Amino acid sequence: MDVSRAVAERRSTRAFLAKDVPAETLRSIFERAQRAPSWCNIQPWRAWVASGETRARLTSEMARAALEAAPSPDVPFPTDYPEPYGTHRRACGRALYEAMGVARDDTAGRQAAWLRNFVAFDAPHVAIVGFDTRFDLYAALDVGCWLQTVLLLAREEGVSACAQASLSLYPKVSREILGIPEQVKILFGIALGYEDPSAPANACLTARDPVESNVTFR
Ligand SMILES: Cc1cc2nc3c(=O)[nH]c(=O)nc-3n(C[C@H](O)[C@H](O)[C@H](O)COP(=O)(O)O)c2cc1C
Repeated sequence: MDVSRAVAERRSTRAFLAKDVPAETLRSIFERAQRAPSWCNIQPWRAWVASGETRARLTSEMARAALEAAPSPDVPFPTDYPEPYGTHRRACGRALYEAMGVARDDTAGRQAAWLRNFVAFDAPHVAIVGFDTRFDLYAALDVGCWLQTVLLLAREEGVSACAQASLSLYPKVSREILGIPEQVKILFGIALGYEDPSAPANACLTARDPVESNVTFR
């Protein structure tokens, strides 16, 4: 698969088959993603990949926390989405809920869909990702470069994924179960596995603005 095709075909997957990705495939994706670029090549990404029993404990504790505890992410979420970002954000939510058949005013349905985040959409593998607390914006940028590298390599392997900031909302759970040190601030999770093609959530397609909205050629 060439890069253009991987970029074009990659999308967020939110329902997975109950089938593990072979350990060699999983390792190979992360091994090759080590080639991601970073500021002065500091390679700041740190990831803990949970499978099997560990993944089951992680998601059940995460789902419990989501019901019982107030979120306390290491990196706060944005609270305000001025235009044009608010429009994009609403369109993204609408595309997902429409695919899932959840109506706008169906509060319980929306809440149930949100809670699916904390079981990582039943993905058999969950990575929790962060970087050293002594760094800030530029290291986060490096982790973003690494994330897309992982997502594209996964795509090439036929492995589907969803980046999940929601999995950073209860860092205490990840620290306890995965042994993540305090010196790592948790940024997001990644659900990984094989897509369930029959799941309505996976019919969600998001749009993009034309390039002129984001890039100026002079
Ligand atoms: C850093 C990051 C965090 C994300 N967090 C979540 C999340 O918590 N839950 C979720 O369902 N999707 C999450 N997404 C997926 C985005 O909603 C998705 O990438 C966007 O809507 C574009 O859709 P596409 O990935 O299918 O192209 C996240 C994506 C990124 C890059």
